[in-house]
Amino acid sequence: MTAAQTAEDAAEYSLRPQTLREYIGQKKAKENLSVFIQAAKMRGEPLDHVLLHGPPGLGKTTLSNIIANEMGVHIRITSGPAIEKPGDLAALLTNLNENDILFVDEIHRLNRSVEEILYPAMEDFAIDIIIGKGPSANSIRLDLPHFTLVGATTRAGQLSAPLRDRFGVTLRLELYTPEELKLIVQRSAGILEVPIEDDGALEIARRSRGTPRIANRMLRRVRDFAQVRAGGVITRGVADQALTALEVDELGLDAIDRRMLRSIIEHYGGGPVGLETLAATINEEAVTLEDVYEPYLMQMGFLTRTPRGRCVTPQAYRHLGLAVPGGMDLEQLTL
Ligand code: ADE
Repeated sequence: MTAAQTAEDAAEYSLRPQTLREYIGQKKAKENLSVFIQAAKMRGEPLDHVLLHGPPGLGKTTLSNIIANEMGVHIRITSGPAIEKPGDLAALLTNLNENDILFVDEIHRLNRSVEEILYPAMEDFAIDIIIGKGPSANSIRLDLPHFTLVGATTRAGQLSAPLRDRFGVTLRLELYTPEELKLIVQRSAGILEVPIEDDGALEIARRSRGTPRIANRMLRRVRDFAQVRAGGVITRGVADQALTALEVDELGLDAIDRRMLRSIIEHYGGGPVGLETLAATINEEAVTLEDVYEPYLMQMGFLTRTPRGRCVTPQAYRHLGLAVPGGMDLEQLTL
């Protein structure tokens, strides 16, 4: 992680809501979670294990901190790749207090030997530790505190079935609407004490590709422009000027989104093209395209996933100012 990323994480942290009441959007997840939390508290039990999945930047870490606050318990935060050996997980688990939360980000990246320790830990709140080697090896069972595992992943499909089945609650986070993002931008601007007009907040919201992390990052950059060029107030005009300077177009697509669409059109006749091939062509990682870029392009109706690969839509041609190939519109109409 670079220094810039760490500073951004710190800045982002100060904007994070601490309670469900402050948390904007994700209505369905929030409503369900609030019932489960209330019920667990009434019974004096830990919350059942929770799996959060969805594109990056939608608030999975934020939500797990909120769960801990609402339950009134401590949270220990780690990630799949950080837990290298079964012993690392055993150390984490045995140090938890009763009802605590263990948050494992990128849980799809746990290695198999660690995952196997997790099954009895989740199900029976116990782990089996092997002592010694060879024929004289012995296994002893160690009881754990009753804890809640909150797992987060961008790709629920990559979780093994035994792990997925052990989560009692699965919540899917969706991209936010511009109206929800506008409220988030206004809330963040309040915390940062930056004056912002309604239209300015909506402009940032519309161009943040459904993602609060991006909206908050853009808010800080637009604030810089407002401060230097517009007397400190964020208006629609200054937001537009700043976002255009950052190469974010009027629908929120950035340079990589556009490169992706253009490449499918220019090199593959609009598709279908396989994800790996496309990634190699534009020199990006396939997982990044799939997790970070495709959800928004699909939501905007610019890209489709077909069994034979990715295709652009007539709307993508129009958005890039290119002529729609003959017959393509008709094909869509007859679908
Ligand atoms: N900041 C980041 N995500 C948020 C959310 N969902 N609600 C309120 N503020 C946020």
